Amino acid sequence: MATQLEMVKVFTKQLELCKVKPHETVIVLTEGDIRADYGEAFLLAAREMGANSFLINVPLRETRVMKSMVGRTAIAGNLPVIDTLKKADIVIDLMGMLFSHEQNEICATGTRMLFVREPFDILAQNMPSPELRARVEYGEKLLGAAKTMHITSDNGTDVTYELGQYRVMTQYGYTDEPGRWDHMGTGQVLSQGVDGKVNGKVVIAPGDAIVAFKRHVERPVELTIRDGYVTSIDGEGIDAAMMKDFMDSYNDPRAYAISHIGWGLLPSAKWYSNIITKTRDAEIGVNMLSWHGNVLFSLGPNTELGGNNDTACHLDIPLRRHTLKLDGQTIVENGKMMIPEMAA
Ligand SMILES: [Fe+2]
Repeated sequence: MATQLEMVKVFTKQLELCKVKPHETVIVLTEGDIRADYGEAFLLAAREMGANSFLINVPLRETRVMKSMVGRTAIAGNLPVIDTLKKADIVIDLMGMLFSHEQNEICATGTRMLFVREPFDILAQNMPSPELRARVEYGEKLLGAAKTMHITSDNGTDVTYELGQYRVMTQYGYTDEPGRWDHMGTGQVLSQGVDGKVNGKVVIAPGDAIVAFKRHVERPVELTIRDGYVTSIDGEGIDAAMMKDFMDSYNDPRAYAISHIGWGLLPSAKWYSNIITKTRDAEIGVNMLSWHGNVLFSLGPNTELGGNNDTACHLDIPLRRHTLKLDGQTIVENGKMMIPEMAA
């Protein structure tokens, strides 16, 4: 358990990284009693910095007890709340608006937004820094200039992405630019293949994780990918069966679309972090998403990168020991970062 004093200290540092100024408006958004202690600590931190700060709290969504539904939020259609959030200089989102139309609308007005949800010790352990930002922005340059990405592994992954249609997105855990979203505790760079132009095979091997399940797979799962969609999920263990049934349960063919692709750049996160801290890594799973050298493969929506697939089924799948090349240049080799500017 963290004391409120510790939280205020960490969140003050966070708001300083976000370059919150005394005249700015900081709105903290919470749902029900989720992370109410973070809300209070952020407000105290903002107040001490001289910012105009207040909290918006909305009732818990009934569907939250059901399966993961990305992009469906407790403020959908709530225009008074959405309009107020647009007036903030920065929104501290303790609810989770990623993949929602509301988030895109609010950020489009120039409001910057920081998503914070992970247990406190993980946030403190993954405290962002300008050095992390420099690594991530170096990756942004390389990914933004590339036309093709080729990913392979000894286990049989061999998949090619054509690039160029979608923007590159950075995550380094804080945000000081108008309209920019980020997620505290993460460090990664990502983009999206050209519509219909992802082909090959991805083999999810033991030790790779399916973040939505908070689980590392134990038996290989082989995904066949044709023209931007998974066309078959094969494997003998529980992992393939669970993945197939989970995705089928959404009754949405767009769940099978290939989503964002990129790599993790956060040295404080390890692929096994959530095994060690099992009970405390129970939210988004930032350590799983961002550990340094993972190839972050994903399925489902692409609205965060400007696409129009807003399926509620999203699977992030960080891959170990994969090799990623951009236009023939090796970026990650067998899970190891090969570019000095992005090394740990
Ligand atoms: Fe994702």
